Amino acid sequence: MTMFSSRTNWDLQPNRLARRVAELRVEAKELLDLTESNPTRAGIAYLDAAWLGELSVPAAASYDPEPRGLLAARAAVRDRYRKRGVELTAERLFLASGTSEAYAHLFRLLLEPGEAALVPTPSYPLFDFLGDISDVALIPYSLHYDGAWWIDMDELERRITPACRAIVLVSPNNPTGSVLSAKEGDELCRIAAAHDLALIADEVFADFILSPSASAAPSMAAEDRVLTFTLGGLSKSLGMPQMKVAWTAVNGPAALADEACRRLEVLSDTFLSVNTPAQLALPAWLARADEARTAIMHRLKTNHRACLQSVADPVELLHVDGGWSVVLRLPATRSDEDWCLLLLEEEGVIADPGATYGFGSGAHIVISLLTPVDTFRAGVERIAARVSATRQ
Ligand SMILES: Cc1ncc(COP(=O)(O)O)c(C=O)c1O
Repeated sequence: MTMFSSRTNWDLQPNRLARRVAELRVEAKELLDLTESNPTRAGIAYLDAAWLGELSVPAAASYDPEPRGLLAARAAVRDRYRKRGVELTAERLFLASGTSEAYAHLFRLLLEPGEAALVPTPSYPLFDFLGDISDVALIPYSLHYDGAWWIDMDELERRITPACRAIVLVSPNNPTGSVLSAKEGDELCRIAAAHDLALIADEVFADFILSPSASAAPSMAAEDRVLTFTLGGLSKSLGMPQMKVAWTAVNGPAALADEACRRLEVLSDTFLSVNTPAQLALPAWLARADEARTAIMHRLKTNHRACLQSVADPVELLHVDGGWSVVLRLPATRSDEDWCLLLLEEEGVIADPGATYGFGSGAHIVISLLTPVDTFRAGVERIAARVSATRQ
């Protein structure tokens, strides 16, 4: 259809799995949904009336637009980083109404139409759309697994083309849960500097570490060797995606970082997208962030433990450092979508096929550690039993 731009010419048909889930829901079939990744629907008690009360303060009646975000809100984000040992200035922080918006600003800031950014795979499925709508190409670099996740830096470097302007990294990554090691962080900085690339570090899951490792890289928000943009936000840190507040921290060599801030300020000023009540509430919310984090961590750990207990050969639970999901490797006797369909039809279990996240070879399924614990345990046990039975 010529009325519409080619960048929006997506195949929007639901896939076989989504269609079948919808049909079974209409039939009111009882399903064990292991894909619940919305913290507000996961039955975790952390949001009380006091959190919401912070939204109704007299100052919320007036509009005092500030392109980077209200100073008190940015100062609260800065203080939160300080608690984690990362020194930032509020001037180098920008609020956005979600990391999607932050990504779109950064792609516009750094890339001409048609230029490219390197992105990890498997990773966040939204990258494809974020690239499309910003008219930029995304070049995947692989995360490899051999008992732990790692980046093949030679492969990554070979993938850099003259049109490449940035490297995106996600740590902990969604859905692999892998955390960048300090050595990998150093290598990425070396490669970015050698090729004149910026780093975009998505650290939205940084508060949720399940297997602390001494070799983990520090936050990229402390990086000063290359121009670095570090993303975080309330969707994960407070389990409050509905409040639509995220941030970008700008770091790196002073001249570059200052120029980036000047330009980002205009991009942000063009939208002024973060609503005032949420900005005003941010200091009080971040002061209570540990409460939300503790409640969410408890759910993640309980479910991760259930996985460790229930999963056995021929199902493999891939090692997870952090984040909100786990990956199960199933025998490659059928595709991941076919496994998901089988598990749905025979066991009433909903899981995400790894292909959704860019898993190529093998059969991987992704399940959410936010899932209510009884559903999670029952679902994982059914997966283990069914996969084992198909082996006999
Ligand atoms: C890698 C990654 N980045 C960012 C987000 C959060 O995005 P937003 O801040 O737009 O809610 C998610 C949510 O699933 C994610 O997986």
